[in-house]
Amino acid sequence: MPPIAARDVAVIGAGAAGLVAARHLRREGHFVVVFERESQVGGTWIYTNKTEPDPIGVDPNRPVVHSSLYASLRTNLPREAMSLREYPFVAKKTGHRDPRRFPGHREVLEYLKDYATEFAIGELVRFDTEVSRVSQGENGKWEVRSIKRKEEEHHLDEAFDAVVVCTGHYTDPRIAQIPGADRWPGKQIHSHNYRTPEPFQDQVVVIIGSSASAVDISREIASVAKEVHIASWSTSNEEDQSLPGFTNIWLRPMVESANEDGSISFQHGFKISADIILHCTGYKYSFPFLDTKGIVTVDDNRVGPLYKHVFPPSLAPWLSFVGLPWKIAPFPQFEFQSEWIAGILSGRISLPSPDEMMKDVEAFYASLQASGVPKRYTHNMTGYQFEYNDWIATQCGSPKTEEWRKKMYSAASLGRKERPETYRDEWEDDDLVLQAYQDFTKQISFKGESY
Ligand SMILES: Cc1cc2nc3c(=O)[nH]c(=O)nc-3n(C[C@H](O)[C@H](O)[C@H](O)COP(=O)(O)OP(=O)(O)OC[C@H]3O[C@@H](n4cnc5c(N)ncnc54)[C@H](O)[C@@H]3O)c2cc1C
Ligand SMILES: *[C@@H]1O[C@H](CO)[C@@H](O)[C@H](O)[C@H]1NC(C)=O
Ligand SMILES: *[C@@H]1O[C@H](CO)[C@@H](O)[C@H](O)[C@H]1NC(C)=O
Repeated sequence: MPPIAARDVAVIGAGAAGLVAARHLRREGHFVVVFERESQVGGTWIYTNKTEPDPIGVDPNRPVVHSSLYASLRTNLPREAMSLREYPFVAKKTGHRDPRRFPGHREVLEYLKDYATEFAIGELVRFDTEVSRVSQGENGKWEVRSIKRKEEEHHLDEAFDAVVVCTGHYTDPRIAQIPGADRWPGKQIHSHNYRTPEPFQDQVVVIIGSSASAVDISREIASVAKEVHIASWSTSNEEDQSLPGFTNIWLRPMVESANEDGSISFQHGFKISADIILHCTGYKYSFPFLDTKGIVTVDDNRVGPLYKHVFPPSLAPWLSFVGLPWKIAPFPQFEFQSEWIAGILSGRISLPSPDEMMKDVEAFYASLQASGVPKRYTHNMTGYQFEYNDWIATQCGSPKTEEWRKKMYSAASLGRKERPETYRDEWEDDDLVLQAYQDFTKQISFKGESY
């Protein structure tokens, strides 16, 4: 075995990814500082009723509200499938906890806090501290500039061997470009700033997008709104469709234009008068603090070049990203990525040469292009998250994904698609839940051995 080196590592963000990264880095023997601009751990899962003053988030100087959660949100994955491998997300029987299989958002925050407590991660975190700049100094070390809230005139510059970026990617809204929208007299809002349905009372609402949150939010709004029209690329037929089970939701083709008289025109000629456009059109990757002198860029929502969505080849392993892929079960993937990064930094696991990594990245981009996948879907991991995780597991010499988890993920995806109103309360994979709990029981009895 080569000597194991301990590094000074800065982790940016104390959401789920940052917590998991900190845990694995310290377990490997590194010295870790976690920078977090909020005053608690949990990232996205810290619900707030605050919203941004610019409801579609186009003003680059707007004050940022990090979380995009709405009040009624329940998870769209069952807790067992979301679960960290090292710390099972089991229902707790105490009064204020939510034991449901698809719990409300508060329960996920509690779980992440429990995880942080279990592994004593809180002591590594500097709260209320925002990283404003990360750049590489002449000696090859990374300089991290941070500002403690309330003391904005005093920033601190510190040097680290490595930086792990864990800042999430559901904060900076992407909006649909609608011809005429600037002269349309109605209101526009992005789902980032959606919290509760009340402001939509008696309104005619056009929702753009067909993501998981568009599905949930449209149903919730329909309970108070006059009409809800869901516009998406995937509704291509010319017939207008009402949604089964609802009297005031319709599926429409994409919006063609917004007009000065307050009307909205859809493709194929349909037109309505509407009050509000709600953009459920997703988010942009954004790393305003990161200065890599152009080595890492965000181009049409591709963060690149990155080897296996983690390392920029020419800066590896000293700069890395945890948590970029989407359409996945995020928490367990954070564990695989973090263990890999920690092991590479210590010299226990090796990476290919920068040239070889770059060739791999280019081959990946070429394969996306050849199959007609737009650049902005580079980190859409539909269909291969487990293959990816298991590839990393092999690099680390650690156990691969549990069979029950793979099956459960598929069952949940199918449930969301086929039974969007009921999948959270009715399911048919109790056999998989049983297998999960058998694994969890083993896990819990080993807990405490290795940290
Ligand atoms: C509406 C919605 C629903 C979701 N539902 C599910 C679900 O059901 N199941 C599931 O598994 N996942 C779900 N997710 C995915 C969710 O994003 C992940 O579960 C996970 O929370 C991502 O963690 P993260 O650490 O990568 O990012 P985040 O949780 O966003 O954490 C990033 C952290 O970085 C901090 N930060 C950012 N910039 C800086 C800076 N410059 N300096 C210091 N700190 C900084 C932020 O304050 C934040 O605490 C959902 C996401 C959204 C938006
Ligand atoms: C927002 O939440 C805070 C507590 O977090 C509460 O005091 C306040 O009344 C809430 N505001 C609204 C408008 O609901
Ligand atoms: C993600 O990729 C899958 C498989 O390639 C594709 O079917 C799906 O449409 C993509 N999802 C989005 C939102 O682009």
